Amino acid sequence: MRILAGAYASQKQNACRLPPRARSFRRRLLAWYARHGRRLPWRGLNDPYAVLVSEVMLQQTQVRRVTGFFPRFLARYPTLEDLAAAPPDAVREAWDGLGYYARARNLHAAAREVVDRLGGALPARPADLRRLPGIGRYTAGAVASIAFGANVPALDTNATRVLGRVLGIRRGGGAARRQARLWRLAEALVPRGRAGDWNQALMDLGATICVARAPRCPVCPVRQSCALGFGRS
Ligand code: ADE
Repeated sequence: MRILAGAYASQKQNACRLPPRARSFRRRLLAWYARHGRRLPWRGLNDPYAVLVSEVMLQQTQVRRVTGFFPRFLARYPTLEDLAAAPPDAVREAWDGLGYYARARNLHAAAREVVDRLGGALPARPADLRRLPGIGRYTAGAVASIAFGANVPALDTNATRVLGRVLGIRRGGGAARRQARLWRLAEALVPRGRAGDWNQALMDLGATICVARAPRCPVCPVRQSCALGFGRS
């Protein structure tokens, strides 16, 4: 292990030990994502509100289901102002079928707060996003990186599993401590200027190849950078 050289180590937030294979991991994963990243309806949309809606939907619902719901919800509420102005019952109805309605209530409350208190502009910084209802560390990181290009991680279940495996962070010693360690490593690992792609690449790899029960290591694009050792000679 050594401290990653250059710009990464010089950032306070990134002053964290990473294994030497971190750079090859970054390069390989970003190259794979450019070719094999999933084409999803919220990707490539240059609208922070749309990114927020997609990430709130994805908090507790599978990508497959969200792909159908997301365009319909956005067609009904195309802007943050439209959502903020809607009656609660209508928002609930628009969320019907997606479940976990607290998310719709929180999203609606967040839209109202942004319009009433923040002049209609969704905050770009994770700390400010987290002050809005229903936005935790993961969602704040996802929105800040994908919508605003902030150099911050976003660890959902899939990304957590991928990082844990690639970096060889063993279980044991407490789930909370392990999670905190993974967030620190994830901060150090975020490629400057590519955080949105990077975070979504981790999610996609975790959803399609580095899956929970039977990971497809022989076809994994980062097998040569992985602590599990598959594909490394
Ligand atoms: N899960 C949560 N956010 C996601 C995203 N932006 N892309 C794919 N899967 C996700």
